[in-house]
Amino acid sequence: MYANGDAPRRRHRTGAASGLLALALLAGGCTAAGGGVEGAPGAAGLRDPYFPKLGNGGYDVRHYALSLAYDPGTGRLDGTAEITARADQDLSAFNLDLAGLRVSGATVDGVRAAYNRAGNELTLRPREDIRDGAEFTVTVTYTGVPEPITDADGSEEGWLRTAGGAVAVGEPEGSMTWFPGNHHPADKATYDLTLTVPAGLEGLSNGVRTERRTERDGRVTTVWHTAEPMASYLATVAIGRYETASATGPASLPVLTAAEPSVAAGSAALRGEIPAILARQAERFGPYPFSAAGAIVTVDGTLGYALETQTRPVFPAASFDRTTLVHELAHQWFGNSVTPATWRDLWLNEGFATYAEWLYSEEYEGVPARTHFERAFAQDANWTFPPAAPPAAENLFDPPVYQRGAMVLHKLRETVGDAAFDEILRGWPAKYRHANASTDDFTAYAESVAGKDLDALWKVWLYGDDRPSAP
Ligand code: TRP
Ligand code: ZN
Repeated sequence: MYANGDAPRRRHRTGAASGLLALALLAGGCTAAGGGVEGAPGAAGLRDPYFPKLGNGGYDVRHYALSLAYDPGTGRLDGTAEITARADQDLSAFNLDLAGLRVSGATVDGVRAAYNRAGNELTLRPREDIRDGAEFTVTVTYTGVPEPITDADGSEEGWLRTAGGAVAVGEPEGSMTWFPGNHHPADKATYDLTLTVPAGLEGLSNGVRTERRTERDGRVTTVWHTAEPMASYLATVAIGRYETASATGPASLPVLTAAEPSVAAGSAALRGEIPAILARQAERFGPYPFSAAGAIVTVDGTLGYALETQTRPVFPAASFDRTTLVHELAHQWFGNSVTPATWRDLWLNEGFATYAEWLYSEEYEGVPARTHFERAFAQDANWTFPPAAPPAAENLFDPPVYQRGAMVLHKLRETVGDAAFDEILRGWPAKYRHANASTDDFTAYAESVAGKDLDALWKVWLYGDDRPSAP
C-alpha cells in the first residue's frame, strides 16, 4: 500500500544506481514518443485552509456521468462514475476523493488502471502516463453501504438514510461518501446522473430530468442533467415516496418541486411561491444562473438543516419556511454560480444569502435592513470571530459567517450608497458567473464599483475581531 501512488515509479526514477539501461527502457515504456518527460503524481489535496486533503491536483474535472442504483432496504448503493477530466501536468498517477464503499474496478481511457485506497484518497495509476493538457476519462465502479460524515461541528452530511429512502447532501465534504471525485469547490463540472430505485419510489437530483423509464425488473430509472458547472458539494440525490409538482419560473425556467407525502400538502403553497421569489431575485441579482429550479422537502428526523443544492435545494420540513427558502434560492447566485475559491471564503455564500433575507424582509415585511443589521450587531454570538477568518472547520457555519457576513454587506451599502450597492448585487454574480471567487476578488470588485479604496471598512467589518463601539 502506498499513500500517493508514487512509490513504485519514483523508486525507478530516482534509482540511477539500478542502471541507465533499465531507466531508459522504463522511460521509453511510459512516455509518449519524443517526450522523454515522465509524469509525476497529482497532489492528494488542494491545501484548503480547513480541509487540506480535499480535492486533488494535476487535473480538472469537466464532467461527471454517475450511474447509481440504490436499495433502501439494505442501504446498498451500486455506482459507476465516469469522470472526464483534463490533465494540467504530466501525470503518472492521480487521486480521487472517496470515503468508504468498495471499489471493484477502474479504467483510464478504457484501459484497466491500478488503484489503491488510503483514508479518503483513491489513487489511480494509469498504464500510461497522461500528458499535460490531455483530456482523459476515468471509470470507477463501486459498491457498499454509504456512511455519513459527522462534521467537526457535529452536523451530519453525505448519504443520509431516511425511513424508506435516502437524501444526499455534501457541504463541505460529504459528497465523497457517495461518489469518487475532485471534491473541492474549486473544481466545478457538469453532471449527468442516472438513478435507479425500487418500484414505487421516486428518485430526484439536480438539474433537468431528461428521462424516466421503468426497467424490466420494475425498478424506476431517471436521468438528471446539470448543464452548468456545479461544485460537488452541491450535488444531491433524494429517494423516497416523493410527490412532485411542476411550474414555470422567469424566462420559461422549469421549476420542479418534490415533497414526501406527509409534508406535501403542507408545503405546496410555499413551493408555489418559488417562481415569484426567483423572479424578484433575478431583478436584483441578475438573470437566474441555471436552467432548472425547484426544491425538495423531506420529513424531519434525518437532515438537520436546509442546503442550497444546485437548482433544487433540500429542506427538512421544519426548515421549509419563507425566510429559509429565500436564503437557499439566493444561494443559487451566491455560492452556486459564484462559488468560494476555498472554504475560508464561505462568508461570500452565507453573508449574501443572509443579506437576501434582509432585503426580502425590508421589501415585504417593512423591516429595514438597517434594523436587521442593528439586531445582528447587538448579539454577542456574532462577535466570536471575523467573517473572513473562521478559526477552525468547526466554526465554518457559526453565526459570524452568516450574520457578520451580512453586516459587511450592509456597511458596504451604507458606504457606497444604494445605487452602487445595487450595481454590486448584480455585477458580482455577473462577473464571476459559474466560476470561483475569493474574498480578495470581492473586495477588489467592490472597490472598483465604489471608485475608491474601502480598506477601513474591510479592516473593521470583514477582518476585525472586536465589535465597534457603534453599529
Ligand atoms: N449552508 C447551509 C445554508 O446556510 C447550511 C449548512 C450546511 C449548515 N452545512 C451545515 C448549517 C452545517 C449548520 C451546520 O443554507
Ligand atoms: Zn446558507
